[in-house]
Amino acid sequence: MAATSDMAEPTRRDILYIATGAVGVVATAGAIWPFIDQMNPDASTLALASIEVDISAIEAGQSITAKWRGKPVFIRNRTEKEVEEGKDVPLAELRDTNARNANLPDGSEATDENRAAPGQENLLVMIGVCTHLGCIPLGQQGDFGGWFCPCHGSHYDTAGRIRKGPAPENLHIPVYSFVSDTKLKIG
Ligand code: FES
Repeated sequence: MAATSDMAEPTRRDILYIATGAVGVVATAGAIWPFIDQMNPDASTLALASIEVDISAIEAGQSITAKWRGKPVFIRNRTEKEVEEGKDVPLAELRDTNARNANLPDGSEATDENRAAPGQENLLVMIGVCTHLGCIPLGQQGDFGGWFCPCHGSHYDTAGRIRKGPAPENLHIPVYSFVSDTKLKIG
């Protein structure tokens, strides 16, 4: 009788397994939901597919951060020194030689010119998300005077190119265009 009773009753170990399984189901449901939700963008999401940003007040040496599709976009009016530093870097010294610029053909080289806005070499427009694990880098910090991601120590240069640390790619450049001399359309 005692043996039958043991088989029917879940042991302490079984209970642990059951509990772990329940947590696993909850966690999986939580991880999948955002992906499903993203497939059904509501009106407000669609409205933010592109944004317009006034860049007239950004002085040389200043940056602003816009929010586009839930991500920060850094818009920096670089100083002459920053532009020169960006131009002086030989491509061979870059870890990622791809411009990562959605406005150029895929695989374009990561020259300073290919990273800057067309006709405005001082202007940089980049998605402010570290290409390692997605933290938001800090501006004008790090070993190369560009951006520094404190999460795991990635250093980007004055053209937003990865130079040191675990991040594998340059900061990405979104699709954008000039609506006027002072207004930028992102997306
Ligand atoms: S997320 Fe930026 S270095 Fe890891």
